[in-house]
Amino acid sequence: MKTYEPFHIKDLELKNRIVMPPMCMYSAPSSRVAPFHHLHYGARALGGVGLIIVEATAVLPEGRLSDNCLGLWEDEQIAGMAELTRHIHSLGAKIGVQLNHAGRKCGAAAETIYAPSAVNYSDDAKYKDPVEMDLDEIARVTEAFAAAAGRALQAGFDVVELHGAHGYLINQFLSPLSNTRRDGYGVNFEGRSRFLQEVARAVRTCWPEEKPLFLRISAEDYVEGGMTIGQMARIVDRVTKEVDVVHVSSGGVTPVPPPVYPGYQIPFAEQIKRECEVPTIAVGLITSLDMIEEALCNQRADLVALGRELLRNPFFPLNEARKRGIELPWPEQYRRAFF
Ligand SMILES: Cc1cc2nc3c(=O)[nH]c(=O)nc-3n(C[C@H](O)[C@H](O)[C@H](O)COP(=O)(O)O)c2cc1C
Repeated sequence: MKTYEPFHIKDLELKNRIVMPPMCMYSAPSSRVAPFHHLHYGARALGGVGLIIVEATAVLPEGRLSDNCLGLWEDEQIAGMAELTRHIHSLGAKIGVQLNHAGRKCGAAAETIYAPSAVNYSDDAKYKDPVEMDLDEIARVTEAFAAAAGRALQAGFDVVELHGAHGYLINQFLSPLSNTRRDGYGVNFEGRSRFLQEVARAVRTCWPEEKPLFLRISAEDYVEGGMTIGQMARIVDRVTKEVDVVHVSSGGVTPVPPPVYPGYQIPFAEQIKRECEVPTIAVGLITSLDMIEEALCNQRADLVALGRELLRNPFFPLNEARKRGIELPWPEQYRRAFF
C-alpha cells in the first residue's frame, strides 16, 4: 500500500506516509521540553508514525499561544529539544518542529502583543488589543524565525515547518481581514505576502539547503473578503524556491469555524499540489487507511497527517498495517504482543 511506501525529499527519507501534525499540548513549563513530551511523541514513534512534527514552538516569548507552549528563542532551550530528537530517532521515526509566532492570538503573559495591524482577533477578553508592528519589529521577528531555525538544526530536527496557518502571525500578514497596513507589507497581494517571503528567505540562511522546509497554510478564511484557495496557491508560488512541502490546513484568521466533514481539506491539498507543483500534506478528519490511500493514490497529496486519530490511537500505523496483512517491524520489546 502507498501509505507504507517510503517518501524521500532532500536529505529526508521517511519510512511511510503517515505524519503526526503539530498539536499544542500546553505542557511545557518554562517553555522547555518536559517528560510528558517524551512520552507523548515517543508513543507515536513506537506506534510507527513516519514523521512527527512537534507542536507550535514559539520564536519569541510573546509569540506563544500560552505560557506553557514550547519555545526556541534562546540557546538554553536547545538541550531539551536535542534530547527529544535523539529519543525519537532511536525509536525509528523522523522529527520536525513547527516554528510559530502567535501575533494577535498570543495568550501568554506579555505586556504588548503585536500584529500586522491594530485589529483584534475577537472581543473576547482573553485576547489583548495588538500593537501594529513597525519596520524594526518586523525585522526583529524575521530574525527570530531564522535564529530559531538555527537552534532547531543544532537540536537535530529533520524538518522545520513554518506556521503560516490558523490565523497566527504569518497568516495575519497574508489575509486582508487582519492586514490593513498601508505600507510595503500590506495594501495588496504583493505587500501582504512580503513578510512570509522574507521569513522563508531568512530561515533558509540558517536551515541548510539540503534539509526540507515545510510551510503550513490556511487555504481558506471562510469569510467574505478573506483568503481563498486560488489566492493562496499564488502565494505558495512565491515561496516554492525556499519551501519544499506545503501542509494544507484552513481557517483560523477569524473565529468563524470551518465547515468540517471527513477529508474536508483534501481538495485544498490537491489543488496546491497540482497548481504549484509542490508536494503536499493533506490533513483534517482523516481517520482510516482507506482515506489515506485514496488521497495518496489519486495524487491528491504526498503525505497524510492524522491529528486527533493519533491522539486516540498512537499505534494506528502498525495496527492498520497488521489488519491488512502487511508485515511491519514492531518494537523489539513488544515482540510477544501477538504470541
Ligand atoms: C489538541 C490540538 C492542538 C493543535 N495544535 C496545533 C498546532 O500547534 N499547530 C498547528 O498547526 N495545528 C494544530 N492543531 C491542528 C492539527 O494539527 C490538525 O490540523 C487538526 O486537528 C485537524 O486534523 P485532525 O482532524 O486529523 O485532528 C491542533 C489540533 C489539536 C486537536
